[in-house]
Amino acid sequence: MAESSTTTRQPMRYLSGVQSSGRLHLGNYFGAVQHHINLQTQGECLYFIANYHSLTTIHDGEQLRKFTFDIAADYLALGLDPQHALLFRQSDIPAVTELSWILSSVTGMGLLERAHSYKDKLTKGIVPNVGLFTYPILMAADILIYQSDKVPVGMDQVQHVEMARDIAGYFNQQFQKTVFKLPETLLSSTPKVVGLTGGKMSKSDDKSVLPILGDSSEIKKRIMSIVTDSKGVHDPKDPDQNPIFLLYQLLATPVEVQEMRAGFEHGGLGYGEAKQRLFLKMEEIFGGSIRTRRAELEKHPDWVEDVLVESAKKADLIARATMEQVYQVTGLRSWKIK
Ligand code: ADP
Ligand code: TRP
Repeated sequence: MAESSTTTRQPMRYLSGVQSSGRLHLGNYFGAVQHHINLQTQGECLYFIANYHSLTTIHDGEQLRKFTFDIAADYLALGLDPQHALLFRQSDIPAVTELSWILSSVTGMGLLERAHSYKDKLTKGIVPNVGLFTYPILMAADILIYQSDKVPVGMDQVQHVEMARDIAGYFNQQFQKTVFKLPETLLSSTPKVVGLTGGKMSKSDDKSVLPILGDSSEIKKRIMSIVTDSKGVHDPKDPDQNPIFLLYQLLATPVEVQEMRAGFEHGGLGYGEAKQRLFLKMEEIFGGSIRTRRAELEKHPDWVEDVLVESAKKADLIARATMEQVYQVTGLRSWKIK
């Protein structure tokens, strides 16, 4: 049964995006993608590949095209069903960039200056382009143009969704009409996944990433390279500070997790053996039929492209309906067009 909003009795609309800036990793999966796939039977789902956002960092057309394909094929291999959810390219709905400009006209500089992800990038020494600064406004346009109710994302995106909500509020207030719904964040049960190097797993830090659909020798190599301290097999170790355990916990059964915890806490389990268990779990979950499906999609890029194009046509209808209201209230449209 589809979840219903109490006021409108319309199905709940879920919307989210993933940037095409690298392959899907375990953080994307447990923070967002698994949740997206589970929600596909709960309401109306719109998911897109945020290639406009990726353009703030990727300046190589072939690479952006390839990453876009990879994210789409990964979603399909992991179980996204195009009969239930839309999966499209952000840039196939160019009206989001138009709306982004319109929203930038009601958004204060202070709001953007408070964005954590922008401040983090400055701290990392990244020289920002204007797109990186105005990124949350484009994200607000993505969310608002589809009149989204819920935005399922990982913890790092919560502030951006709140900004979209604020921007929707400013717009509705300035133009004295409720054009946009106020969206809400929806977190998964694991909204912040640790990376291989101990911080957050993120595509922007390649060393932190455990790809989920990479080839098995690369996955193994990455797991075996996790840096550990010099404690020996019999020394007690703290599992809760250890990326091997923290990642294993996401994948294994409660009994297996308990076994690893006990092995670390009481001694008897070495890091090498724990890494091997983590690798075997990755294989068990993402090897097999998922890997086979992914390989099949790689051979049929036209199947993937058809999903993206057909989904975009449906998303475009929703976007156009919103833009009609925007044109009316802002006065951007000729009075002759009703
Ligand atoms: P990345 O941060 O690796 O570049 P994206 O920005 O494209 O990935 O994020 C796609 C989705 O995955 C977002 O909803 C984001 O919050 C989520 N996500 C990314 N990294 C993590 C993580 N380490 N833990 C939980 N969720 C994450
Ligand atoms: N900024 C998001 C991220 O890096 C991706 C994204 C772009 C997004 N537009 C969105 C997520 C709209 C949710 C809704 O993860």
